[in-house]
Amino acid sequence: MAEEWATFGADLHLDLRGAGQSTGLRAALMDALREAVRSGRLSAGVRLPSSRTLAADLGIARNTVADAYAELVAEGWLTARQGSGTRVARRSVPRRRTGSGGPGGQGRPGAPGRPGGGRQGAAAARRARARPTYDLKPGAPDLASFPRAEWLKASRRALTAAPNEAFGYGDPRGRIELRTVLAEYLARARGVYARPERIVICSGFVHGLSLMGEVLRARRVREVAVESYGLDEHWRLLTRSGLRLPALPYDELGTRTEGLAGMKGVGAVLMTAAHQFPLGGALHPDRRVAAIDWARASGGLVLEDDYDGEFRYDRQPVGALQGLDPERVVYLGTSSKSLAPGLRLGWMVLPESLVDDVVALKGPMDWTGSALDQLTFAEFLESGAYDRHVRAMRLRYRRRRDELVAAVAAHSPQTQVSGIAAGLHAVLELPAGQEPEALRSAAWQGLAVLGLNRFRHPDTAPTQDGLVVGYATPPDSAWTGALAALCRVLPAV
Ligand SMILES: Cc1ncc(COP(=O)(O)O)c(C=O)c1O
Repeated sequence: MAEEWATFGADLHLDLRGAGQSTGLRAALMDALREAVRSGRLSAGVRLPSSRTLAADLGIARNTVADAYAELVAEGWLTARQGSGTRVARRSVPRRRTGSGGPGGQGRPGAPGRPGGGRQGAAAARRARARPTYDLKPGAPDLASFPRAEWLKASRRALTAAPNEAFGYGDPRGRIELRTVLAEYLARARGVYARPERIVICSGFVHGLSLMGEVLRARRVREVAVESYGLDEHWRLLTRSGLRLPALPYDELGTRTEGLAGMKGVGAVLMTAAHQFPLGGALHPDRRVAAIDWARASGGLVLEDDYDGEFRYDRQPVGALQGLDPERVVYLGTSSKSLAPGLRLGWMVLPESLVDDVVALKGPMDWTGSALDQLTFAEFLESGAYDRHVRAMRLRYRRRRDELVAAVAAHSPQTQVSGIAAGLHAVLELPAGQEPEALRSAAWQGLAVLGLNRFRHPDTAPTQDGLVVGYATPPDSAWTGALAALCRVLPAV
């Protein structure tokens, strides 16, 4: 072991002490490796120990290391070649940004540039982020389809009409113009019972969630129940506020909300009721009622994450849970899927009893992004441009989804595609135990895609293997290639 370590010549002291219940060892290992590359401690071209060696050295499972390596290859931090092992990616010439129109132009931040080179080098490295060839990670819409022309028009109109006071510090709830048109839109399109004075504009869902975490903690809530599959980033935000997060089990009808009645310490539950993330189902009506009944009986709150409610393909979108009891549900919406995450525009519709607490927490001045962006969005909504954009994107994503389903059926008929009735992602179910191999194979194909198990709550036993495929993300120019690469990863006929 020690010999193998020494032959690589890489100082690979990795500190995984930050690995907590919600972060997990894989995430901690990935963070530690990224940090080692970013700081230049692991320089370009350095060969890393084999997954077996590193696993033994760190005292963790080999699969954990192999998965971390595969994801870092997909993100562009490492390279993996048969015969030469896993190495720190070599990027002697920073890759030119190709914009969102090229196959390399999509993807999310987090990938590295060229390490080392002092402060300038580090800045250049940050700019020149390497990306896998194809990005099918869930989470982003097609950024190339952002409605630039319509947004520009709305922005001109908003700027022209903006009163002088719009350029000052504003109401912590956000611009009244936006809250007024949002209230109408949410009532019409999502069945939300919304009044402008109950709406608080925030910088995306995560901002609203972290505000709620603080408010709940200040109200002496200790536990927030979460779904057994979800985003660990969101769980982390709540644990940072000092909350514990027990998980509710999940079955074919969705999250088993009737279990809430037996969870004595729980003061709130975080749910993706219209479209479970990432599994994809809509919560069964009985389970919706059970969640509301629990909240009424216990004085608890439902935190409803309505992240992609507009995108339903088989029928009318499932209405928001909030419509069932606006005094017991905190509705959290976002423009991150319908427009673009870069806008950082989200909204909370609050029970009356919470408005003052949330506003007090936000502070006396509005620190929620730009008033001009809010006014532009208000214009965009009011002019009907938002509805037109959502309808156009719904058609486009449905076509993509159909192409995904058809390609998988042709290349790997035994692979079930689930969660396809709504949203911008689907789950490709894999035979038990095949997820790590599929992820490694995806990394070899230059394909960024995520495994279902990385979304599993730490207290939930693994029951299903799969890939979570974000089919909205690639621009048109990369879509066919991404689909072909994905098919190569799946079990063949
Ligand atoms: C389940 C879920 N909720 C919410 C969001 C949106 O978060 P934000 O509005 O902070 O961009 C996402 C984005 O990926 C998501 O996947």
